[in-house]
Amino acid sequence: SWTTGSIVAEQVAAIKAQVGNRRAICALSGGVDSAVAAALVNRAIGDQLTCVYVDHGLMRKGETEQVEKDFVAATGVRLRVVDAADRFLAALAGVADPEQKRKIIGREFIRVFEQEQAELLAEAGAAGDDVAFLVQGTLYPDVVESGGGTGTANIKSHHNVGGLPEDLAFELVEPLRTLFKDEVRMVGRELGLPEEIVHRQPFPGPGLAIRIVGEVTRERLDVLREADAIVREELTAAGLDREIWQCPVVLLADVRSVGVQGDGRTYGHPVVLRPVSSEDAMTADWSRLPYDLLATISTRITNEIAEINRVTLDVTSKPPGTIEWE
Ligand code: XMP
Repeated sequence: SWTTGSIVAEQVAAIKAQVGNRRAICALSGGVDSAVAAALVNRAIGDQLTCVYVDHGLMRKGETEQVEKDFVAATGVRLRVVDAADRFLAALAGVADPEQKRKIIGREFIRVFEQEQAELLAEAGAAGDDVAFLVQGTLYPDVVESGGGTGTANIKSHHNVGGLPEDLAFELVEPLRTLFKDEVRMVGRELGLPEEIVHRQPFPGPGLAIRIVGEVTRERLDVLREADAIVREELTAAGLDREIWQCPVVLLADVRSVGVQGDGRTYGHPVVLRPVSSEDAMTADWSRLPYDLLATISTRITNEIAEINRVTLDVTSKPPGTIEWE
């Protein structure tokens, strides 16, 4: 529509005026907000922008590829992908406590990002110009919530992978500051971003690590990633992925139960389906998914994933239950 087009034109002009011929960096998370912010800034300043995507190994099936291939194809953005999965897994070894997991992931993210930033600064220095701007996908509701202040980097940890350091010597570029989520999606579509990115449901920065109750290991991540992919596939096939707010799939990695699968007795793990309806994630209700859909999901998961022999449904609202299990 012309309104979305004019938002894009307006923001592109504003970004050009702000950044001039200097450089900017942007941390991509795979989520809608950072993707649309990056695409807008890229439209304005092209390869004066470098995006950094830290692959912590905790993403869902296909998500990293979506950023690496589809997002880059749609925008032509200059992207650095850092494969840091080993590093994150090593740091998470032996840790079961949810808040500790978050802290570790946030800390490692900052370290990796700072390393990339230092390399970029060194390159820019050699080229004789500055990396002076940090792009953020801050939305209007975030601005209101945090008192409307701007200036230095100040990211709510909830909306990003642990938050970025506060002493960053960057000026912020926040082209989504006046927009609501639905407008951000429209702008994303206007900029030609893939539907899978524009319509992605909320996914926590710490990723699958906080959906494994217990220690996070590579094997457990692989199991959960497969189960999650089946659930998303079936929700999409049923046309319900845009009806519900999100549907975490949780692996109870330290719980085992007896089952029969194939020709034998098994002693496997349960997963929990946590489909919720919500307006803003502050409160939520469990989604009344059709029984047939639940049956299909359950059959597929237990047929296709040897480690899982039980599928359960979480029927708790928020409050008292949070959306995520950790
Ligand atoms: P809860 O579990 O608190 O989740 O009801 C509310 C919303 O926030 C998401 N969430 C997170 N997002 N980092 C994030 O970026 C986190 O540590 C985190 N924990 C929960 C959750 O997916 C839901 O949308």
